[in-house]
Amino acid sequence: MDPHMTEWLNLAIRWVHMIVGIAWIGASFYFVWLENNLNRVNPKTGLSGDLWAIHGGGIYHLEKYKLAPPSMPENLHWFKWEAYFTWITGVLLLGVVYYLNADIYLVAPGSGLSATASVALGVGSLAAGWIIYSLLCDSALGKKPMLLGIILFFGLVAAAYGLSQVFSGRGAYIHVGAIIGTIMVGNVFFVIMPAQRGLVKAIEENREPDPVLPAKGLLRSRHNNYLTLPVLFIMISNHFPSTYGSEYNWLILAGLAVFSILVRHYFNTRHGSQKFAWTMPVAALGMIALAFVTSPYASKMGETSAPAASAPAVKAESATAQAETDSAQPASSGVSFAQVNEVIQIRCSVCHSAQPTHAAFSTAPAGVILDTPEEIKVNAPRIVAQSVQTKVMPLGNLTQMTDDERKLIGTWVEQGAHL
Ligand code: HEC
Repeated sequence: MDPHMTEWLNLAIRWVHMIVGIAWIGASFYFVWLENNLNRVNPKTGLSGDLWAIHGGGIYHLEKYKLAPPSMPENLHWFKWEAYFTWITGVLLLGVVYYLNADIYLVAPGSGLSATASVALGVGSLAAGWIIYSLLCDSALGKKPMLLGIILFFGLVAAAYGLSQVFSGRGAYIHVGAIIGTIMVGNVFFVIMPAQRGLVKAIEENREPDPVLPAKGLLRSRHNNYLTLPVLFIMISNHFPSTYGSEYNWLILAGLAVFSILVRHYFNTRHGSQKFAWTMPVAALGMIALAFVTSPYASKMGETSAPAASAPAVKAESATAQAETDSAQPASSGVSFAQVNEVIQIRCSVCHSAQPTHAAFSTAPAGVILDTPEEIKVNAPRIVAQSVQTKVMPLGNLTQMTDDERKLIGTWVEQGAHL
């Protein structure tokens, strides 16, 4: 498809996806908050509590019924379309970004998987995720919510690990996010909505509602609550190459998920007690620890070779010749801009040029143009972050950049990125 068209499709769908996603999560956070803040002291008969609030210049009084009001109101608001549309736009976006250009965004460099096979695998993983999840919830484990939660968590970590073996880092992350999103919407569509419809129908027919479906609905909506923060991180994760671009990306994701679930748990329980206040500092320390273990300094500490800066600097001209003949040691000698420029023009400029030649792009991706020496120098820190500290660029390693070339660029920048 024409790259300009894809960009605008991407724009439109992503925008709507964000809007409906905010509406969905906003409403669900609001109802959790309502539930937790209900005044349950001396409720009026038939009520489980009420709450006063002020917002937007108006004072609101909300009441929650133990079961239902004596007669059903004519206008009962349901919250479902924001969930459905979040999923629909999410799947469309997955298609536009990851499946239309699967060879650059989805396939792991060197995995040998074809674009078609990787798309099939991606779609299959969403369906499999939902089916396995749903079977587990409906099994005997459904009666042991804690154990079920732990099993589900490790199941998702296993999915992240598996996907990271066949997909690019960001492809793996987005599919874990899409699996979680599919589970959350599946819960709304297949369990929570039917449970609510059953409840309303029973009340209208003046009979006791069947307790089984609402119990299922409650379990599923708990899961949705705890899955919200991890899925939100995944949706913004492709801004953070030190997470998805790491060799241990699946483990980093698991860590971030644990910390965000802890934080969610504190917010779910803080109205009743402060018993889980410890989760906040633990999550903060955990994030700091993750920032440390993913840092380039941490990985350097594991290397045995002496830092490049202390190696004797070789004159630029001879370094060029040396790098051509002895590419195993570019990191230990002085690196000239000419060497770096050559690498960048070969490996990056099909995409990162004012006029990209790669068919998938009509303008330089992320606005990063690497045509002139000045443009390269200005972007040096970003180039290092994307193609030296992590290997997320060249995207899909389509242009087959070698590790020696990455080291070469790293050394040039360490030596001051001189032109
Ligand atoms: C196949 C096309 C392609 C190639 C080749 C490529 N890139 Fe990129 N690059 C992209 C795309 C697409 C993005 C935008 C990614 C996104 O959507 O987040 C990008 C983004 C970037 C960014 C901006 C990231 C940010 O958000 O700060 C930098 C820097 C970058 N690339 C550097 C490089 C370097 C250096 C090379 C060569 C070693 C390279 N790229 C090769 C496609 C490519």
